[in-house]
Amino acid sequence: MVELKVSLGERSYPILIGPSLLDDTTIWSQQCPARTVVIISNSVVSPLYAARLKTVFQKLGKRVIELTLPDGEETKRWEILNQVYDALLESRCDRKTTLIALGGGVIGDLTGFAAATYQRGVPFIQVPTTLLSQVDSSVGGKTGINHPLGKNMIGAFYQPRAVLMDIDTLKTLPERELSAGLAEVIKYGAIADAEFFSWLEANMAQLRECNPEVLTTAISRSCAIKADVVGQDERESGIRAILNFGHTFGHAIESGLGYGVWLHGEAIGAGMVMAAVLSAKLGLIDNALVERLRRLVAAAGLPIAAPNFPAQRWLDLMAIDKKTSDGEVRYILMDGLGRAKITPVPEAQLRATLAETATLDLAFVSLQAA
Ligand code: NAD
Ligand code: GLY
Repeated sequence: MVELKVSLGERSYPILIGPSLLDDTTIWSQQCPARTVVIISNSVVSPLYAARLKTVFQKLGKRVIELTLPDGEETKRWEILNQVYDALLESRCDRKTTLIALGGGVIGDLTGFAAATYQRGVPFIQVPTTLLSQVDSSVGGKTGINHPLGKNMIGAFYQPRAVLMDIDTLKTLPERELSAGLAEVIKYGAIADAEFFSWLEANMAQLRECNPEVLTTAISRSCAIKADVVGQDERESGIRAILNFGHTFGHAIESGLGYGVWLHGEAIGAGMVMAAVLSAKLGLIDNALVERLRRLVAAAGLPIAAPNFPAQRWLDLMAIDKKTSDGEVRYILMDGLGRAKITPVPEAQLRATLAETATLDLAFVSLQAA
């Protein structure tokens, strides 16, 4: 097992990564002192893994409440959150009750926000079961739900007490979801660790086969980088924004196509290639590095070109991204391999990047999704 730490003073917490953690009574007795626990999961993950957690909690003499929510991004909304509050109140959960988020980023984000707000804050533990949630969303305390007018628009920074990643859970994850998680793994190499990037180039095939040692290394390195960045800038007033590499383009793809047509990680795959091309146009990296990134993204099973929305539509979609500051979009660019730079960009280079990378016939993309 690998143990890492997110260092945030008295709100510091451990990240534990390894096989068979779901069943580990010792770990759970150390990490979860609460007498009452609420396992919040969904209709896909609960039948696979909730019983194992429940057994451990019962062995430890805890009162266990289970909440199974519908699957999908649609669950991250106010009405479902309210159902969580209803259940917590009906079961007379108090401020010592600990919420357990068992699932991917949707369950983690919603449960974290429920924990941040129920009775002004109760402890919660992340048990992420997708690669994306293991390497990204379960670490760092961004919690929240979507609003009809925007994704992730309602939320709070609220850190978990611990993050327990049982890598065995990835065995049941659909291949497409695994690839989506790999986009975020590649991101860490591109912006923060040149050696890790090269390691990913050498090990991508084994990662896609879910080789446990290789997966553990990739998840641990990703989490270590994220923990380091979050420890420096919890509320994204500066360096944390580098974790959004590829996301300004990616969010535009997701919202332009309609959420769910491409998975978030798929949009980030193409978005990172676009950000790299833009970085090269600004002289920050050479074309050989753009090509290396393009090959790695493709090897992860992700798209390397974006839909050909009209250029003005692209600019409008990117202008509403959260990284806008005083009306100006700031781009996260590669500044050499393993380094990032946050900067506004002249429109001419942006348009040239779109012309070169946003080449997928829209009708074809929609047809594939149907
Ligand atoms: P998800 O939670 O929807 O999970 C993807 C799919 O995999 C779902 O159908 C889920 O039921 C299923 N699943 C989960 N674990 C499984 C397993 N072990 N075996 C089989 N199926 C399994 O999606 P996600 O990609 O994990 O997370 C996306 C969400 O995370 C988005 O809402 C996004 O906004 C959010 N997010 C948050 C942060 C953050 O910092 N808080 C960062 C990135 C993304
Ligand atoms: N997913 C980016 C962040 O947590 O800041």
